[in-house]
Amino acid sequence: MGRPIPTDNEILLKPIDIVVSKSDEEGNIEYCNPIFIKLSGYNKKELLFSPHSILRHPDMPRVIFKFLWDELKKGNEVTAFVKNMTKDGSFYWVIAYVRPAFNPDGSLRNYVSTRKLMSEHARDVIEPLYEKLLEIEKSDGVEASEKTLMEMLDGRAFNDVMTEIQNS
Ligand SMILES: Cc1cc2nc3c(=O)[nH]c(=O)nc-3n(C[C@H](O)[C@H](O)[C@H](O)COP(=O)(O)O)c2cc1C
Repeated sequence: MGRPIPTDNEILLKPIDIVVSKSDEEGNIEYCNPIFIKLSGYNKKELLFSPHSILRHPDMPRVIFKFLWDELKKGNEVTAFVKNMTKDGSFYWVIAYVRPAFNPDGSLRNYVSTRKLMSEHARDVIEPLYEKLLEIEKSDGVEASEKTLMEMLDGRAFNDVMTEIQNS
């Protein structure tokens, strides 16, 4: 299956939509709900056991996924804005809450992502930020964009800043 070519066609979530998926330790899709499937444009068979990066949009800075995985591996949850690409190259924006789920014995069960509509304000803030991070990554690599992201957080917790951006 070749990668889609990104288009300018945007798919808008409804405020009521909750887009859920679960993955194994490597990010392969183990479960996805009907809205996830519908939005993606793929069928369930194409999605199950595929990596979540099947939805990766080229406009997404790598540093966001690096941060996501660093935190998940530490057992922490992450709130992040994500632009996803569908099978036909369209895109949709979400705010994603991603967390590890654990078995009663403390071992990892899976990772769970719950996504909702991103606020308009968040869109205004995040789009230029991601553009900047991507540009820095292209010229100076992911360490440089990580530095810029940390400077922007100015000592505050990533999740708190993202939640504030979504709600203000
Ligand atoms: C539970 C879970 C859900 C994820 N959901 C998405 C998603 O919706 N879109 C996406 O691009 N990456 C998602 N990821 C991150 C991917 O695993 C991957 O890191 C990202 O797509 C970058 O892929 P790449 O490193 O191959 O470029 C998710 C990861 C986890 C653990």
